[in-house]
Amino acid sequence: MKRPFLMMLLWMAGTIGMTAAQENVITVQTARKGAPISATMYGIFYEDINFAADGGMYAEMVKNRSFEYTPDALMGWNTLGRLEVRNDGPFARNPKYVRLSASGHVEQLTGLENEGFFGIGVKEGEDYRFSVWARIPEGKPQVLKVQLVNPSTMEEHQQFAEARIKVEGSEWKQYETVIRSPRTLGKARLRVLLYDENGRTGTGVCDVEHVSLFPVKTWKGHRNGLRSDIVQALYDMRPGVFRFPGGCIVEGATLDTRYDWKKTLGPVENRPTNINRWRDCFPQRCFPDYFQSYGMGFYELFQLSEEIGAEPLPVLNVGMACQYQNWEQEGAHVPANAAALDPYIQDCLDLIEFANGPADSQWGKVRAEMGHPEPFHLKYIAVGNEQWGRFYFDRLKFFVEKIRAAYPEIKIVGSSGPGPDGKDFEDGWKAMTDLGADLVDEHFYRPIQWFLDNVNRYDNYDRKGPKVFAGEYACHDNGRKWNHAGASIYEAAFMTNLERNADIVEMATYAPLLAHVEGWQWRPDMIWYDNLRMFKTSSYHVQAMYACNRGTHVLPCSQSEVAPKGKDGVFSSAVWDEQAKEYVVKVVNTTADPQPVCLRLEGCKKLGAVHTITLDCSTFEGENTLDNPNLIEPRHNFLASEGNEVADIVGGKQFVIYRIGKASK
Ligand code: AHR
Repeated sequence: MKRPFLMMLLWMAGTIGMTAAQENVITVQTARKGAPISATMYGIFYEDINFAADGGMYAEMVKNRSFEYTPDALMGWNTLGRLEVRNDGPFARNPKYVRLSASGHVEQLTGLENEGFFGIGVKEGEDYRFSVWARIPEGKPQVLKVQLVNPSTMEEHQQFAEARIKVEGSEWKQYETVIRSPRTLGKARLRVLLYDENGRTGTGVCDVEHVSLFPVKTWKGHRNGLRSDIVQALYDMRPGVFRFPGGCIVEGATLDTRYDWKKTLGPVENRPTNINRWRDCFPQRCFPDYFQSYGMGFYELFQLSEEIGAEPLPVLNVGMACQYQNWEQEGAHVPANAAALDPYIQDCLDLIEFANGPADSQWGKVRAEMGHPEPFHLKYIAVGNEQWGRFYFDRLKFFVEKIRAAYPEIKIVGSSGPGPDGKDFEDGWKAMTDLGADLVDEHFYRPIQWFLDNVNRYDNYDRKGPKVFAGEYACHDNGRKWNHAGASIYEAAFMTNLERNADIVEMATYAPLLAHVEGWQWRPDMIWYDNLRMFKTSSYHVQAMYACNRGTHVLPCSQSEVAPKGKDGVFSSAVWDEQAKEYVVKVVNTTADPQPVCLRLEGCKKLGAVHTITLDCSTFEGENTLDNPNLIEPRHNFLASEGNEVADIVGGKQFVIYRIGKASK
């Protein structure tokens, strides 16, 4: 027999009662190196939904640190004693602060207690940097006792860590101290209590503003930094592109709450607080305390792109509020004429200068002053998030004209609307082609059947028009919108189609990216967390497997057994990796049964070692959780080759990557 390995595997399959299926020969034409695969091919899309920023990746632990949430400036705070919110603070765009005053009674405390985002998560032995802007408006110096407390303990003391800050002088100053936590607690609180220098309560007055608590260990140790566990997971995916900051958040429910990138720059204390568009749009999951501090603003997002090695892809407002929330309401948007749109167009031009301009240009200077004199090398800009119809087209044309004239080298990404087919979608593609967009952003949150029906979606796309950016997608099973491995396997199958068509698909990003287990509005999502832990979903692993095995060139790949249209089956794609000098073949079996496959690498005589990476989604309903984060994760193995063939059995609902070296002789 020519393939003893396969025969043995088939025999083994038979002995354990598997159904013997027809061998599927997957032929890869190694001599026909095809289109280069864009470095941006597999990326990530970040939006502040599901408490992705404050309460998520942005490591600030104090909610409403500037007392600017509305309508209640003390949202997130419990209060003790005598205090008042005042409105003439040191930061023009966040003018509110709190005046703590003597309670008037020696045994009554004055102070504040912050509940954090679903609590404050602290870890034993870790350091936390507390900071506050404060002053003594009148009278003697005061002492702020800063405590980490467990509000629900039966112990003698609720506080388990404490530091003291002496505040003196009538000028506003920033004070800080580091507190080491002696214990791990997911739902601690932060207390700030007013004392005098003699340890007595309630004898003086102290003003406090911008009360902040960060872990000292953030991603790369940045102050005003990001949660290192979450960013590490992003980094480990090796994303090629980083789309931000949304999503519908770019548009806002109304234009005055849209994401305005200029407000996200400069000292964090003076970045105005904005209502989060996801706060109350779903009555079944509504969060009155969901605001954006903009602490993780455009500077931090560009910096993050750079640090995770991804091309930044900012999305800017096209002069439109969210179309979903303002259905056919022309009046919700900026009038579609050049003069009215000018400030929005200027925002795009200024952003390009902010990212790429010399350090002495108007906006390049802002970047340089924030710590990055070198440019961020921006190459792409998306204008409009998920827009459709004439409202969009009539506005976008003014943007394209001006951006092209000023920055012909920047690639413009346009939208094809919220769905992947139908009239709006067709009209969108036509308009983007006519307007000369470089890429068209497609969005599809669809059921399993759609993913099966679309495994060849891009095969017949027009190669002469704009490139494809699959900017938001996820398999929502059949309406079961929670994460489970059974949906992820269809994402893997669909992605063979992205890869086979890398000549037209330039980038793809799963969505949404992040979700707090208590604070989500939308699922499935790629990464989940609470205040202490996180886990990567099976969808994360699918994305990471593609991104880490992207290769550099498409190789033609065909199968002897092809699933009938819209049916489960075996799906594959192949690439050459110029750096590693390896062939990389991806095989996805969406059926429930094991499928014998033979990879035949035409044009090779002899192959070297075969490294396999397998994601087993056969638990179908299964998914990683905070308590069991590694239930579904890639397993690594090795296989022998035989001549120019590799024989294997791909288990039911498995995604396998074969990295195949050339024989050394
Ligand atoms: O990813 C969630 C939302 O889905 C995005 O904000 C929007 O672009 C799409 O409708």
